[in-house]
Parts: sequence; C-alpha cells; structure tokens
Amino acid sequence: EGQWILMATGRSPTNIAVIKYWGKRDEALILPVNDSISVTLDPDHLSATTTVAVSPSFPSDRMWLNGKEISLSGGRFQSCLREIRKRACDFEDEKKEIRIKKEDWENLHVHIASYNNFPTAAGLASSAAGFACLVFTLGKLMNVKEDYGQLSSIARQGSGSACRSIYGGFVKWCMGKKDDGSDSMAVQLADEAHWNDLVIIIAVVSSKQKETSSTSGMQNSVETSPLLQYRAQTVVPSRVMKMEEAIKNRDFASFAKLTCADSNQFHATSNSVEYFYWQVAYTFDAGPNAVLISPNRKTATLLLKKLLYCFPPQDKDLSSYLVGDKSILSD
Ligand code: PMV
Repeated sequence: EGQWILMATGRSPTNIAVIKYWGKRDEALILPVNDSISVTLDPDHLSATTTVAVSPSFPSDRMWLNGKEISLSGGRFQSCLREIRKRACDFEDEKKEIRIKKEDWENLHVHIASYNNFPTAAGLASSAAGFACLVFTLGKLMNVKEDYGQLSSIARQGSGSACRSIYGGFVKWCMGKKDDGSDSMAVQLADEAHWNDLVIIIAVVSSKQKETSSTSGMQNSVETSPLLQYRAQTVVPSRVMKMEEAIKNRDFASFAKLTCADSNQFHATSNSVEYFYWQVAYTFDAGPNAVLISPNRKTATLLLKKLLYCFPPQDKDLSSYLVGDKSILSD
C-alpha cells in the first residue's frame, strides 16, 4: 500500500512512406482510402522516447511533449488511452509490492513525458513516432497482451502513419474493409536486416512547424482533387503490389521508380490547394537538370549557397549558372 509509482519507457522511430497514405474514409477512426508502405528508420536518428508513469497519487492524466505540458483532451489521445486501458491486465511487480487488478486500471491516472530527437510537426512524421511510442509503452505499463497488429490498430487512432512505426523494417498498412476499423492495421513485409545496403538521407530544409497539418491537407485533397479517388482506387493497388515485389527482390530500380512516382502523385493531389509544404518550386523538363524557382531573393541566395556548397562547379564562371539578375552572386 502507501505511495508508489510504476514507470515504463520506450523508444520508437518514425517511418517514411514510399507509397503514401493520403485521404481518410473515416475521420474519427482514421481509416485510409488506400494501403500504404513505409520504411521505419533506425531509432538513433528520428525517434520519440516516451516514459509513462502511473500512481494512485496522480489526480488526472497529464502529458508533456519536449518538456512542455500539452492537453490530452483531444480525441486522438483519448482514443489511445481508452483502447489501451480497456485491454489492461492484472499486474504484479517482481517484489510483489505492487498489485494492480485489471479493473483498477480504469481509476488510475497516468503521467506521460515524450521527447523527439528531431523537429516536431515539420513534416518528418513526428506524430508517427510519438503515437506508436505512446501506445506501445502504455501497453507495456498496463500489461496489455495484444499482438503487434492489434497495437498498430490502436496507434492508428492516434495518427494514421503511427500504425506503421510499431514494426521495424518495411511495413504495409492494410486499409481494411470493415467499418469499425478492426482490420485496418500494419503488417511487417520485411525486417530491418532485409535490405541493409539501403541508406535514407533526409535533407532538413526547414525545422519550423509546418502551417498545414496532414489532417487538413488530406481533407482538402479529398474534397477538391479529382485525382484522389482515381489514385486510391486505380493507381495505388497495383503500385502496392509492385512495391512489395521490389522490396522482396531488393530491386532498387523498381523501388526508386515507384517511390518517386508516388511522391509526385501524392503532391499532385494537393495541386488545387497550393504548394503549401514547399519553400521553393521546382520543374523538370525532359532531362536530368533541375530548375528551381524561389519566392524571393533572400531564399534564392540561401539556396544558391547551399547548392554551390554541395555541388561545387567545375569552372569558375558562376554567372553561367544563373539566368536573369546575376547580382545575386555578390549577396
Ligand atoms: O499520419 P498523419 O496524419 O501524420 O499523415 C501522414 C501523411 C504522410 O506522411 C504525408 C504520408 C504517409 O503515409 O506517412
């Protein structure tokens, strides 16, 4: 009896989709309009670390993200907490000092502290790492016995892409057919060791919080893009099959083609919105050379400096690389 506190800590990496999830058929349950496939990164770089504590002395559920208290009142947090609590089992610690009965978990409150070791909400799927970690760690704390598939289905209700971060390696989120979402969950296609040579480089151009959330971006696409339903029903199903083959055979040429095509098409469904996620515009003609268009001189100068640093020109005459106002080179 008396005062006690029980804790669990977990770490979960983010994942990067190579066949994108974009568009929901059910907003509350977070059910997608198509299957998606992703690669889970290794936990050293882009991951969330979450500690969950429970104690009879906590009067309410509370959470801190990167050291700042945030509200848990949102539907997504509530769904995850409710679904895990529902599945909590009897617990006894090794020293047999703390005993919690299955039904007692309902009345015990939790404190959650989560840290991301990378920019939060900047389009690097921080919510994927965060919700996967929260659900997994809370499940451990409450002695939940569900398998990874079931846990992924719960993490999905926090953030769609989070269901794929329950597994490492290559993961598919099967959209499912049922209205209650019970068959909308992740499966592992291949583990971390399967394609060791593959290296993912993430170029962080901005770590500022993005202005349009994925939720409102995809809502907008569902409402305004004539391409979205065609993409979901006609393009993605065969693309997912081809991607599974490419991953199985470690066929980089097919993997690369499908990944780029899917990224382009996902962004194309946001055409009618505006290029809200981007700091610059690009266009490619029928060749390998990139044309970059910047909204102003300041961004252009910064971009140019980075480009010249990364790709030092062979000759000294930089002006031949610029069309128009060449005085920017002296900025
Ligand atoms: O899970 P959300 O709501 O953060 O949406 C993620 C959407 C994309 O990252 C753009 C695509 C994906 O499949 O992860």
